Amino acid sequence: MPLAAITHAKAWIGELFSQSGGSHDAAHTLRVYRTAMKIADTEKACDRDIVALGALLHDADDTKLFGTVGNANARLFMEKEGLSQEMQDRICNVINGVSFSHNRGKVPETLEGKIVQDADRLDAIGAIGIARAFAFGGEHGRALEDTIAHFHEKLLRISGEMQTAYGRHEAAKRHEMMVRFLEAYRKETEE
Ligand code: ADP
Ligand code: NI
Repeated sequence: MPLAAITHAKAWIGELFSQSGGSHDAAHTLRVYRTAMKIADTEKACDRDIVALGALLHDADDTKLFGTVGNANARLFMEKEGLSQEMQDRICNVINGVSFSHNRGKVPETLEGKIVQDADRLDAIGAIGIARAFAFGGEHGRALEDTIAHFHEKLLRISGEMQTAYGRHEAAKRHEMMVRFLEAYRKETEE
């Protein structure tokens, strides 16, 4: 039986991200959740409830979207769901280890943290990563070339920084996809 909080979180994030654009919307969180559960299937030692709630709440206090501090949105939700302090702390630990920009070079300490970080990073690469990057560029009024630069600065590095076997395997395929895209883009746009 899944925790009721997991079912409730899926509905709650729909409201939370109702104003967010395509690079960071509720669908992103649901994909991260589904990918994280697939990775969890291959990592038998993990706590699946922590993975599920860590994934579903991982962007609930994203600084680019919300002005909250100390995981306030996630904590409020978990408090209402009656989760123990210990469980809340473990989930916040997972959430706080996910962000690429806030954790350069740092590896999550827990298996659950590694799983959710890999799931979030997989959503930034491959075909979906390409779509999200251009959605982000559009939301911020950037030129296409600025988003191409983002692939070289960040997205092409991600496949080398995965923490789980499933993550590494899937990231390699998605990396190839981006390389093919960039090559085609270059050919079509070069003078
Ligand atoms: P995180 O929250 O893990 O630090 P970001 O919020 O930086 O990740 O990225 C969210 C999405 O927006 C990703 O798909 C990322 O590739 C995209 N993105 C972030 N910065 C840029 C940028 N400068 N140009 C294009 N896409 C970007
Ligand atoms: Ni995310």
